[in-house]
Amino acid sequence: MEENFNTIDEEKKVVIDSNEEIWNKETYDAWVNRFGTPEEAAARIKKNPEAVLSILYSKLGDVKGKRIMNLMGSNGNKAVALALLGAEVTVVDFSEGNKNYALELAKAADVKIDYIVSDVLKLPKEKVRGDYDIVFAEMGIIHYFTDLAPFMKLMYELLSNKGIALLRDFHPVSTKLISSRGSTAKVRKHKVTGDYFDTSLEEKDVSYFKYSEDDVPKKVFLRKWTLGEVVTSVANSGLVIKSLDEEPNLSSEVFDKGIPKTFTVMAEKL
Ligand SMILES: C[S@@+](CC[C@H](N)C(=O)[O-])C[C@H]1O[C@@H](n2cnc3c(N)ncnc32)[C@H](O)[C@@H]1O
Repeated sequence: MEENFNTIDEEKKVVIDSNEEIWNKETYDAWVNRFGTPEEAAARIKKNPEAVLSILYSKLGDVKGKRIMNLMGSNGNKAVALALLGAEVTVVDFSEGNKNYALELAKAADVKIDYIVSDVLKLPKEKVRGDYDIVFAEMGIIHYFTDLAPFMKLMYELLSNKGIALLRDFHPVSTKLISSRGSTAKVRKHKVTGDYFDTSLEEKDVSYFKYSEDDVPKKVFLRKWTLGEVVTSVANSGLVIKSLDEEPNLSSEVFDKGIPKTFTVMAEKL
């Protein structure tokens, strides 16, 4: 048993260190390839910050004057959209390239955001003061953790009383269970090929690879969690779950109709 725990600890460290190294490379260029220069991207966000926020906007409503923490906030597009709506936003992410893009994006949009380059699980104590109104993380978050408890604990500790935690991520039915083929709704076919209860780590191309100019994909290790595991870990952190929504493909009414694509858990610190 003891030996087993040591193996898991070592495995966790290797996973986080190797994911961090990968994320620090080339992200700035990948975002320019994907969204354009920070000036071009800022102009688009300024036109309609609500649209950039999508579900987040409908869940959070008026964010004017709110202190918001965006964990693993990447290139800062959500943070900048929230700042444009009057929120005071801090991002934590361990990629320096992301920080550079995000701060240029904020400058070009004429807003201020704070950006802390750090592993979220090693955030300095003085940054965790329990004074955020909202803490959120979304879209490609939980699979980076081989144990969800420390991340949920961090959400809890960052929040003030009555603060809201929001976690939105890819739905495990889509990421663990179903494999899909065909690029139009007409020819698209789905098969149940996965094991929903698989707990192994999966080696995958880093998500920004498709926008980078690299020939060889960078790899990250992912642990795909079931919905039950996620909800249970939020509840175990002490946060009180207010809602769990499962969302279809929001960019098309026909493509992958009927299949859950994302989920959003909202919880409160009471
Ligand atoms: C797929 S992105 C998240 C997408 C982003 N929230 C959005 O909506 O655009 C994952 C991010 O997590 C960051 N990341 C991964 N593990 C991390 C960790 N342990 N601490 C801090 N940042 C981490 C990566 O640098 C990357 O920017």
